[in-house]
Amino acid sequence: MENVRNLINITDLTLDEIDHLIEVADDIVANPTDYQDICRHKKLATLFFEPSTRTRLSFEAAMLELGGSVLGFSEAKSSSAAKGESVSDTVRTVGCYADIIAMRHPKEGAPIVAAQKTVVPIINGGDGGHFHPTQTLTDLLTIKRRKGRLNNLVVGLCGDLQFGRTVHSLIEAMLRYENVEFVLISPNELRVPEYIKEKMNEVGVKWTETTSLEEALPKLDILYMTRVQRERFFNQEDYIRLKDSYILDLAKLKLAKEDLSIMHPLPRVNEISVEVDDDPRADYFFQALCGKHVRMALILFLLGIK
Ligand code: CP
Repeated sequence: MENVRNLINITDLTLDEIDHLIEVADDIVANPTDYQDICRHKKLATLFFEPSTRTRLSFEAAMLELGGSVLGFSEAKSSSAAKGESVSDTVRTVGCYADIIAMRHPKEGAPIVAAQKTVVPIINGGDGGHFHPTQTLTDLLTIKRRKGRLNNLVVGLCGDLQFGRTVHSLIEAMLRYENVEFVLISPNELRVPEYIKEKMNEVGVKWTETTSLEEALPKLDILYMTRVQRERFFNQEDYIRLKDSYILDLAKLKLAKEDLSIMHPLPRVNEISVEVDDDPRADYFFQALCGKHVRMALILFLLGIK
């Protein structure tokens, strides 16, 4: 649809636009009353065909804190998808009721299809193993707030790097910043897909692969842990074999820098021991808060509200 901005992939945003969103997110924290009625009479629909806690609820909290309203569903079975309705028809209908739509769907590409069927902005809240751009905005804001920069960083990504859409989006975003090095830590079966490696090679970014978290830890500025995702496996035996490949605990953290930032998109299962939560380097709940601030900024941006 003409003149409508959507967010399907993080590369839909220029670096200047990402900087703008980060600035607005910081201004929202500094001057909350300036924003509390800014979306009055605007409605956000959250169409979640797949489970979510952070993405859906932070979008809803974001719209409510901007003075707007929310509607939607949190599982496919409570929508007419359960009766066989297509994503296209669902989105075309909801576009008659809401000013902006955030959606999550298990099928890769579903938000692209949706964006062709409605005149309201579509935000991809995660499509299968593909992309999760608002998680990436969350991650970039967290890194900027914790490190003061988005360049000159060694970023370790650990866990399920094959199916982890948050990892794919974060790599795509960060390879646009200067002097960022990636250390990819995963079991051999869950390595980053080839197309992501090709993208890193195209821009000449430095990256290495290892199966050892202990070996990688000492050089990292950021450690981005991820869950091995049961829902992406065809074979339960493989999931059980791989699910506890990496468990970050206080003993392992002795190998890390004092100013490491430990991130995780959450939900976590076993990959970060709860004893790590009180370590000053544990940033994953702060990250969840950043998600609300940056989604507020994104809603304003896509609605064209200054
Ligand atoms: N990080 C994230 O996408 O969390 P949810 O699945 O809870 O939305």
